[in-house]
Amino acid sequence: MGLPEERGRSGSGSRAQEEAGAGGQARSWSPPPEVSRSAHVPSLQRYRELHRRSVEEPREFWGDIAKEFYWKTPCPGPFLRYNFDVTKGKIFIEWMKGAITNICYNVLDRNVHEKKLGDKVAFYWEGNEPGETTQITYHELLVQVCQFSNVLRKQGIQKGDRVAIYMPMIPELVVAMLACARIGALHSIVISWNQGIDLWWHELMQEAGDECEPEWCDAEDPLFILYTSGSTGKPKGVVHTVGGYMLYVATTFKYVFDFHAADVFWCTADIGWITGHSYVTYGPLANGATSVLFEGIPTYPDVSRLWSIVDKYKVTKFYTAPTAIRLLMKFGDEPVTKHSRATLQVLGTVGEPINPEAWLWYHRVVGAQRCPIVDTFWQTETGGHMLTPLPGATPMKPGSATFPFFGVAPAILNESGEELEGEAEGYLVFKQPWPGIMRTVYGNHERFETTYFKKFPGYYVTGDGCRRDQDGYYWITGRIDDMLNVSGHLLSTAEVESALVEHEAVAEAAVVGHPHPVKGECLYCFVTLCDGHNFSPKLTEELKKQIREKIGPIATPDYIQNAPGLPKTRSGKIMRRVLRKIAQNDHDLGDTSTVADPSVISHLFSHRCLTIQ
Ligand code: PRX
Repeated sequence: MGLPEERGRSGSGSRAQEEAGAGGQARSWSPPPEVSRSAHVPSLQRYRELHRRSVEEPREFWGDIAKEFYWKTPCPGPFLRYNFDVTKGKIFIEWMKGAITNICYNVLDRNVHEKKLGDKVAFYWEGNEPGETTQITYHELLVQVCQFSNVLRKQGIQKGDRVAIYMPMIPELVVAMLACARIGALHSIVISWNQGIDLWWHELMQEAGDECEPEWCDAEDPLFILYTSGSTGKPKGVVHTVGGYMLYVATTFKYVFDFHAADVFWCTADIGWITGHSYVTYGPLANGATSVLFEGIPTYPDVSRLWSIVDKYKVTKFYTAPTAIRLLMKFGDEPVTKHSRATLQVLGTVGEPINPEAWLWYHRVVGAQRCPIVDTFWQTETGGHMLTPLPGATPMKPGSATFPFFGVAPAILNESGEELEGEAEGYLVFKQPWPGIMRTVYGNHERFETTYFKKFPGYYVTGDGCRRDQDGYYWITGRIDDMLNVSGHLLSTAEVESALVEHEAVAEAAVVGHPHPVKGECLYCFVTLCDGHNFSPKLTEELKKQIREKIGPIATPDYIQNAPGLPKTRSGKIMRRVLRKIAQNDHDLGDTSTVADPSVISHLFSHRCLTIQ
């Protein structure tokens, strides 16, 4: 890992502090004092106290948080009941069963009537075309949601029905989701329009009344179904429920982004992705936050679009994916630094391991060395953040998602299912439920049990590999299915990709295993180059040397292919499953419905490396 440029600087030039951690690469940045001063959690010690209470006394910890919400009937019985152990019977998780509430009421009516936030802007909407803008207050949002709830009821939709929504990133999408939640219907955001069944919004809204009594729901009633991105196989319908999800996204939003009333929050994720559900819609609204809702892409009309929007709306907290950071890094610092970004206080990332190179650029250039970065590890299945720094409390290490959020008890297991202590690498699992955990796979509870609970009875299995360093920091090493086994040595995709991206010519890299007669598996690398660099045998040699030096000769790739584009899901995740097939010239790609840009696949097929380089 290259040393950070901040090294040795302190005081007036840079408010970020660097501490020499043990073990060379373990360098950390302390939270800036001005962030800690006003933070909800102002120190690591306070984080540790709160975390310990949250896992030792989850019922009391979450019970206190639940008091901040509106319950028509508070929880009558046990606050939490669960079974995580397949050998003891059916897997189930119940938080606050029997409590009666409505999440839409909590994120809108409660804010408008109790908290008097009716005139506060809920969303600044920015269209793809600069200049196309609108805004919507909490009161206006409530009115529109009531109208659309009435529309849905008029269509005969009732509590428990499923409503598929097909819409772009516009406020009406949030309205539609919340209207479903208001009437107790499950929303499911989809990617295609269904001719003959689907109906037009403007025609339906014309005569709808603007008041609508919410449907009162059990805390354990389903709230939505979200199909996982399918980067590894057939999509699963992940089911989240009303009460626990509400508590969890509201609480993670508040602490992880250190939310304060004057903030302008911007999460760039598509609402159709869990990040959008939790941190565009429910989390910010539950806190009465003002957010930016952006319909466009980071490169239109030019590559400084994001930063011009940050300045326009005075964004204070900004949340995006490593793929966007790597994309923008390619174009250098100037498109960023030509905008002020003075309002930014906290930066976040989600979706994939962020390679240290990209972290350092995000920190140094976008955050001008003064903004903590929250590298949030979580999944569609977890509902909200699981491992993450807290901006005012956690010293950060580039590339590490650091420590567990409140209520989260991680462990690292070896292949035999034994918990590893101290410095270790293995399977990342969670030992007890947190309120936002999914409750089932829609229509297939057995698949839920098999996928997440069978391999290691007693634990929720994430499917991710993870390393814990000597300071107790967690480092995600990538999906276990994507691990590479070269001559009996296990290598993580994240590790090799990070080494490639450290080369100045490489903007993005994806590494997959490829059959090899002697080694069992060898490395096949796809690299996307930065603007102004050409692919050449000399570059291939340099990249191989770089990997040998950073990781060791065992990781030397056999194939390196130039990849102007990589197959990604809509949420920006690299589909290594598809890349493995391309490397083997196997055109039987399985389900590719979630590939954002299918044209890159045919290009990669036709430019495959045919011989070992
Ligand atoms: O492999 C982990 C990776 O993304 C997976 C979850 O993907 P999805 O359900 O689409 O949800 C994405 C948004 C939460 C995880 O199993 N992942 C997500 N965040 C990180 C990450 N890997 C490393 N670091 C992260 N911060």
